[in-house]
Formats: sequence, C-alpha cells, structure tokens
Amino acid sequence: MKALVLSGGSGTRLRPFSYSMPKQLIPVGQKPVIAHVIENIRDLGVTEVAVIVGDWKSEIERLLGDGSRFGVRVTYIQQEKPLGLAHCVRLASEFLGEEDFVMYLGDNMLLGGLEPIAEEFAKQRPAAQLVVRQVADPRSFGVVELAADGSVHRLVEKPENPRSNLAVIGVYFFTSAIHEAVAAIGPSARGELEITDAVQWLVGQGAEVRASEYEGYWRDTGSVDDVLDCNRALLDRTGTEIRGSVDQMSWLFGPVVIESGARIVRSRIQGPAVIGAGSVIEDSHIGPYTAIGDGCALRYTHIDDSIVLTGARVSHVRGLHGSLIGRSAAVGQVERGAGHHRLVVGDHTRVEVLV
Ligand code: G1P
Repeated sequence: MKALVLSGGSGTRLRPFSYSMPKQLIPVGQKPVIAHVIENIRDLGVTEVAVIVGDWKSEIERLLGDGSRFGVRVTYIQQEKPLGLAHCVRLASEFLGEEDFVMYLGDNMLLGGLEPIAEEFAKQRPAAQLVVRQVADPRSFGVVELAADGSVHRLVEKPENPRSNLAVIGVYFFTSAIHEAVAAIGPSARGELEITDAVQWLVGQGAEVRASEYEGYWRDTGSVDDVLDCNRALLDRTGTEIRGSVDQMSWLFGPVVIESGARIVRSRIQGPAVIGAGSVIEDSHIGPYTAIGDGCALRYTHIDDSIVLTGARVSHVRGLHGSLIGRSAAVGQVERGAGHHRLVVGDHTRVEVLV
C-alpha cells in the first residue's frame, strides 16, 4: 500500500498564521501536524508517501525532506491551484499506479487506532473504505448513508439537511478503481473535483464502498480552537523529561518536558507542559496545557492552555489563556513606564483584552 498526503489548501480560518506558514506546519504537542500525519502513516506499515503541495512547497519540503527522518520515502507533487481532493488523486495517478493507497488530509489529527480499519481494507479490498465518525453537526463534511448490510449507498458533500450523522473524516482507503472515478467526474458548484463525487460515482457503478467508524481522538486542525484542543490531547500523552536546567527557586508539577538548553528561573511550570530547546522562562507561571517552542523568552508572564511558537518573546503579561503566539512575535511590556499600549498587529490577527 502507498500513501497520498494532501497538503495543498490555504487555511483561511487559521489566519494570520496561514499567511506565513502552511497550516500543516503549526505545532501541536511540539510537533507540526503533518509530522504526526506521516508518523501515523508509517505506523500502518506504509513507506511510499506522495505529498501534494501547493504554494508552501518549500516549507513542507524543509520539514519532511526525503522522509528518511520519519522512516518513509517522500515524493512531492505540486498542485498549482487547490482544485479539489479528487484532482489530487488525478495528479498522483502515475505515482500510485495500480496499488492500493491510503489518502490522508495533512491537517487532520488522529491519535492512533487506524490499524484495524487498514487491516479490514487490506483483507476485503472494497473499491473504497471511508473512515467516518458520528458528529453533532455534519453539515460541513461529506456525509455517508449506510445500507442495511453496512455498505455505503449514498455520499453527499456538505448537505444542508444531512440524512445521517456519519461524517467522512480525513482518511480514505482506495484500490486503483478510484482512478476511473476521478477521471469521470466534473467540478462541483464550488469549482472543485470532489472526492465525494468520485466515491459516489463508484457507488453508482455498483462498486463496493464501505465505511468504518473511527472512535479514537480526531480533529481537523482548521481553526485555532481545534489546534488548542489537539495540543491538550497530545500533552495529556506526554511524560516528564528534564534535559534543560531548573533553578532551586522553581517548581515543576505534573508531566513536564524541559528540552535541552532551556532555563527555568524562579518559575512554576504546571504540567502537562513542554518548554522547547534554548527557551528562557523567568519569574513566570506556565501551564497547564501549554507548549512553548524553541528559543522563546517568557518573563513575568502567566500563561496556560496555549501554544507559543519558535523565537517568541512575552513579558509582563499575566492571565494569558487559550492563546496562539506566532514565530518571533513580541508580546507585552517592552519599555518600562511607557504609559501606553502599542500594537503592531498583522492582517486578520485577533487581540482580545480584558477591560
Ligand atoms: C473535505 C471533504 C469532506 C470531508 C472533509 C474532512 O472537505 O470534501 O467530504 O468530510 O474534508 O475534513 P474540505 O475540508 O476540503 O471542505
């Protein structure tokens, strides 16, 4: 089996981050989302991976390289415009050949547990096996309707009146039967080649399409709240590892990772929390559920339930919560006694303050 990872989209709900980095590179639990994706694929025993990339090709390549760091071999395929998931399958047809493959959306986080579904697919080899999950509001997903024997008899993309609560999540297993389907369909109302239309085409041809309910942790990391939720879920799975230095006047509680070269001075770290390599934490309270990236400096700051990216500086801000702070951002008091607030805030940034 091969794998196709889709990493082309633009991520408008993650602005301003998506202006300067692909959403798949946002770190959750200290590792970019797409690194978790590649590791999950490797855990299925798949080593040949094609990654569809768009405008952020070079950033994604810089992280994944040839894949050897993750134990896989990565091939990059450029998609000039986001023309849909089925368009990605068309682009990858040469790479995929006649092999079965797993298609995985590069912004979807599943925390383990795909193996039984992959095994079922490998044994029964339906034309398509969709990974689905019951959701409260299925209207923003592909929605599956099942026949009495458990096979998929209808699949509708983002229906206004969903006829079931089974949403297609970001992982699909296909045999090479999908190639004829993606060649047969035309663009949808939103101008994209929809994978749901291709799968529905297979159903219409009498091909076997099955759905398996995934019960583990899953999030589409499309919004800041989803990213923070994923971060909490991953930090809940971390232990304690202290590679940096912690002074006598600091306190660590619960599972805390302090990476090498990090310095904790007169501070309190409440796990689960991760402090990245080379970061300095002084006179601060960090956590719970907080991941501080590499090379950050936090002084006189209280922060919980947050992610701080590489090289950011935060000083003299207490009560930070549910925050996502970008690379090399500077937040807080810079000059003592300036007597005013000063904001240099990028497009579509959100600053929420207590008044
Ligand atoms: C895509 C698919 C949809 C699926 C969803 C899962 O939607 O078209 O069927 O349910 O991914 O995240 P998109 O997020 O591209 O709108």
